[in-house]
Amino acid sequence: MSIIARRLGRIKPSPTNMLTGKVAEMKAAGQDVIGLGAGEPDFDTPDNIKQAAVRALERGETKYTPINGTIELREAIAAKFKRENGLDYGLDQIAVCCGGKQVIFNAMMATLDPGDEVIVPAPYWVSYPDMVLMADGTPVIVECLEENGFRMTPAQLDAAITPKTKWLLLNSPGNPTGAAYSRAQIAALADVLEGHPHVWVLTDDIYEHVIYDDFEFSTIAQVAPALMDRTLTLNGMSKAYCMTGWRLGYGGGPRELIQAMTNVQSHSTTHTASVSQAAAVEALNGPQESVAEHTAVFKQRRDLVVPMLNQAAGITCRVPEGAFYVYPSCAGVIGMKTPDGKLIGDDTDFVTYLLESEGVAVVQGAAFGLSPYFRISYATATEALEEACRRIQRACGRLS
Ligand SMILES: Cc1ncc(COP(=O)(O)O)c(C=O)c1O
Repeated sequence: MSIIARRLGRIKPSPTNMLTGKVAEMKAAGQDVIGLGAGEPDFDTPDNIKQAAVRALERGETKYTPINGTIELREAIAAKFKRENGLDYGLDQIAVCCGGKQVIFNAMMATLDPGDEVIVPAPYWVSYPDMVLMADGTPVIVECLEENGFRMTPAQLDAAITPKTKWLLLNSPGNPTGAAYSRAQIAALADVLEGHPHVWVLTDDIYEHVIYDDFEFSTIAQVAPALMDRTLTLNGMSKAYCMTGWRLGYGGGPRELIQAMTNVQSHSTTHTASVSQAAAVEALNGPQESVAEHTAVFKQRRDLVVPMLNQAAGITCRVPEGAFYVYPSCAGVIGMKTPDGKLIGDDTDFVTYLLESEGVAVVQGAAFGLSPYFRISYATATEALEEACRRIQRACGRLS
């Protein structure tokens, strides 16, 4: 009999993290690989943030902090919510966790009973369904089609709600598509939710600042204040401040929920590193110029990658509103054959072909719940991206 719990049989290892591991192995073996799988900015953490961490160490801030974060940090987060989102959260309505990932995990552990349903629009960030499953919930996947901009329509939301629905997970701008919901589109979803008072919404706003052109970011509790008492607003330092390794995310929500999430965390990680918390205070309260500078570079890369992909035979790519991903369709290459006679039967075959023939590592749409697509993270050096797109064009040109 296996030592591993049955619960683990329901989940699978993160395919994106696995790909990152595979790329590292191939590079170590001397192979020429361009990894476009990892969802993290390639920029270094801004220096003012690093220096704040150094000062915290020098002050001896190396001990336990309150579980839900230092008062100073929660004050900085409350000020951020007010300043950028017009939301009023008290200090006891804020949870600080080890990354946005733990905000979701804590929320699911704190609220789901067996059989409770969570609506997950697809394509989704790979961890959502597995976190729901680990907490004994049932993910209800709603396929959001490219013709609707990869967005869930109000009718789809309404049809997915049952008496067992506990949460809707919303992510805008989204991973893996980069699609974002406008204020009016969020308001239309909120109208549906207002008719179903038992449904809560977790809005994952981690890509809030990575948004392009004239698109305006909105978050649901701001658009529909009536939902404030059943909304968990998630954000974090990883993407906006290039702080993936510092592990700091946070959520604002009703007191009872935050208290329950804090209880969960008190028996697992206790809190995120004291030094990371001091750095996050500086990130939120200090100069913000680097955020816009990084977004400007991401926009240039998006504008490089999208046309190059559209020039690849059999590939079509929508222009995303935000985040640093594109989610091109590879429908046009399905059914074709590689030069050595292998059939491209689905998007997994296609990404395997790209990796084996050209050393370009991307993630198949199947991992995100909508095929036939693949995800490219363009949070990588511009020259490498250009070379990767040339290789994809070459690989597609060789199919017949
Ligand atoms: C949609 C989305 N939410 C949350 C996260 C979690 O980021 P972190 O745990 O580093 O804050 C990620 C990271 O890839 C993400 O893409």
